[in-house]
Amino acid sequence: MRMYDIIMKKRNGGELTTEEINFFIKGYTKGEIPDYQVSALMMAIYFQKMNKRETAELTKAMVESGDIIDLSAIEGIKVDKHSTGGVGDTTTLVLGPIVSAAGVPVAKMSGRGLGHTGGTIDKLESFTGFNVEMPIERFIRNVNEKKIAIGGQTANLAPADKKLYSLRDVTATVDNMSLIAASIMSKKIASGADAIVLDVKTGSGAFMKDEESSFKLAEEMVDIGTHVGRNTVAVVTDMDEPLGFAVGNALEVIEAIDTLKGKGPKDLTELCLTLGAYMLILGEKAKSFEEARGILEEIISSGKGIEKLKVLVEAQGGNPDFVDDISLFPKAKVVKKVLAARTGYVKAIKADDIGIAALVLGAGRETKESKVDLAVGVVLHKKIGDFVNEGEAIATIHSNCEEKTLQSEEIIQKAYGIVDEEVLTKPLIKGIVTKDGTIKF
Ligand code: URA
Ligand code: CA
Repeated sequence: MRMYDIIMKKRNGGELTTEEINFFIKGYTKGEIPDYQVSALMMAIYFQKMNKRETAELTKAMVESGDIIDLSAIEGIKVDKHSTGGVGDTTTLVLGPIVSAAGVPVAKMSGRGLGHTGGTIDKLESFTGFNVEMPIERFIRNVNEKKIAIGGQTANLAPADKKLYSLRDVTATVDNMSLIAASIMSKKIASGADAIVLDVKTGSGAFMKDEESSFKLAEEMVDIGTHVGRNTVAVVTDMDEPLGFAVGNALEVIEAIDTLKGKGPKDLTELCLTLGAYMLILGEKAKSFEEARGILEEIISSGKGIEKLKVLVEAQGGNPDFVDDISLFPKAKVVKKVLAARTGYVKAIKADDIGIAALVLGAGRETKESKVDLAVGVVLHKKIGDFVNEGEAIATIHSNCEEKTLQSEEIIQKAYGIVDEEVLTKPLIKGIVTKDGTIKF
């Protein structure tokens, strides 16, 4: 088999065989096929596309390019959740405990990554002493005993994807549905879950800016899941403004605690109940959406959810007292209000820019080597549709540096669009994609 022939076949609109897909993924992972040939193939795929079978086979080949985590020693159906990424997304910190309290084992491994804030494990390190590094045996034991563990990702998952994604990034071939879907799903499948709930974000703060392409991506990923025998449900949700109020690390943990105590932001609560309900259905702890949602609401109102967070924190060496005394979390030196420049209704909050306002304060990593400042970030006070008076606080900056505070403030001011006319809010949940079809709300 020759790479040249595979490139030409796809360039001419042909369908690649499983052998051809395996050949190029294996060869590329091993370094036997050069970047320039794979670049040409990616561009051919970009223009000629791949069908469902090719997309699923590409995903499988990428899964097999590295470690596949074996979670079979954990009792029950392991359901994982993945978000395509947004701003201020605190869902895992809420979902983990409530879903676990409902009896679905939560075995979450996450990376730190680059982003506006740290990843879930960075956020959890706001609990002094919280340990995310543990051998796989201990991780599995924790899940079996406590029904929840959240750890750092050390395995070599889908290395073919890592190489391909970097190559696509510099060859203008990222935005092809099949390639994106295969990239995301290969990492999820390699991490060992039996079933997957996807939160596909849509809007200004999301990877997919319009609803049509978000649904298409959701459908591609559900098709892959179905093809490889992992029950997959995707929920398409709004990311036109940041989720909840807090964007930061400790700040988001505090927001998650509020939500687990039933006092969280409406949008975050709604999203967690929706995603959680599908996790319960896939985990066979409920038969219908209504039943599942009822179970989760009871878990929050009875306090079982917040208790589970304490169990998680204690099991991994953190101090669970933080949950009831949030003054123990790392605190920023400077706390500054951002005041509305005019009176009116909030029409837009550019989510990406709020993310950057948190990033410049040090809440996230600009390079792999940067250290995350757990204390800093932004807390919004006004969301889309809210009325605001000139001089009223629209947000609060938590910072450890005067100069960065000013920079962040300027970005937040520009991110807010305030108008005279009343603004109608849009629904958070746009639709659901399952193997049986798509429902748009
Ligand atoms: N996120 C991924 O992990 N892969 C893509 O290709 C795009 C977004
Ligand atoms: Ca948030």
